[in-house]
Amino acid sequence: MSRCRCTAGWLLLASAAFLCTSPAALARPRLVLKLGHGLPTTHAVHKAMLFMADRVKARSEGQMIVQVFPNEQLGNEKECIEALQLGYLAMTKVSSAPMESFVNKMKVFGVPYLFRDSEHFWKVLDGPIGRELLLEGESKRLRGLCYYDAGARSFYTKSRAIHSPADLSGLKIRVQNSIMAVKMMQAMGGSATPIPFGELYTALDQGVVDGAENNAPSFVQARHYEVCGYYTLDEHTCLPDILMIGTRVWKKLSAEQRQILQEAADESVRYQRTLWLEQEQKDLQVAREAGVEIIRPDKQPFRESVRPIWDEFESSSDQKLAEIGDLIDRIQEVP
Ligand code: GCU
Repeated sequence: MSRCRCTAGWLLLASAAFLCTSPAALARPRLVLKLGHGLPTTHAVHKAMLFMADRVKARSEGQMIVQVFPNEQLGNEKECIEALQLGYLAMTKVSSAPMESFVNKMKVFGVPYLFRDSEHFWKVLDGPIGRELLLEGESKRLRGLCYYDAGARSFYTKSRAIHSPADLSGLKIRVQNSIMAVKMMQAMGGSATPIPFGELYTALDQGVVDGAENNAPSFVQARHYEVCGYYTLDEHTCLPDILMIGTRVWKKLSAEQRQILQEAADESVRYQRTLWLEQEQKDLQVAREAGVEIIRPDKQPFRESVRPIWDEFESSSDQKLAEIGDLIDRIQEVP
């Protein structure tokens, strides 16, 4: 997405403002919240946001509308976060990875092999730590409403199968716009290349990168499986997707509007988790049937390769790093 297209989108949004009144609506003002994100429309997370938008419309009797714009139409994840801060865009859904540059504590999700299993992951996210992290960005004008399941991320490559970190050596692997992802690739021995999600298909196709990493629904729904023949389920990180609202917009909502939005978000979480589990299995099968070799490697060498990342946080006297070290400890203490 070029900066120019994005700026045009922002201007449009700014001029439309988030409160629109049409002549017919003078007596009944309508609140329109625009939500931009980068995933395709067939993706479970997109479907969950449509579900949330339906609930908002029904509960407000048509007075609150959430308009969902997929496929980076309103900008990539970093651009959408910035637009929220500036108040040009009301809502976005991003991965926790690009949030790291705005909210230091979000880096904790990028610590490889942090969660024992998905039960541990959800216990942390549904509990006080998860809540604390959703609200951590408020001073940066970013408020998290809920988390969506984005499974575990694993490597996929075009022409070399990855069985251990040694196989990543010399390969250019696309990563998200995230310091933690770059650290992880360095620790594992590959070469990290940050590229926005919407540009990745072309980058893979044209050989700008040799591979990438993601969950099965994103690998398949973004059609990356058409160009990558190997998918290695090393499951290095569990980065949640996060539904965000700009605090400028949030503060302008009435107590009732806030409640409608939050409850709809919470309901969409339950819906999305079921949808996710189905889609994860289905998409792995789609990849397999298309001829992708699915590799289930021994995870131990991957775990060992990223140990320096854990050590750096746990032994640091730098306050920002130590903050992550404390969070790692608290997360590990969750039974
Ligand atoms: C996941 C996540 C997206 C993110 C993407 C990426 O698919 O749901 O929000 O953009 O990973 O790798 O960039």
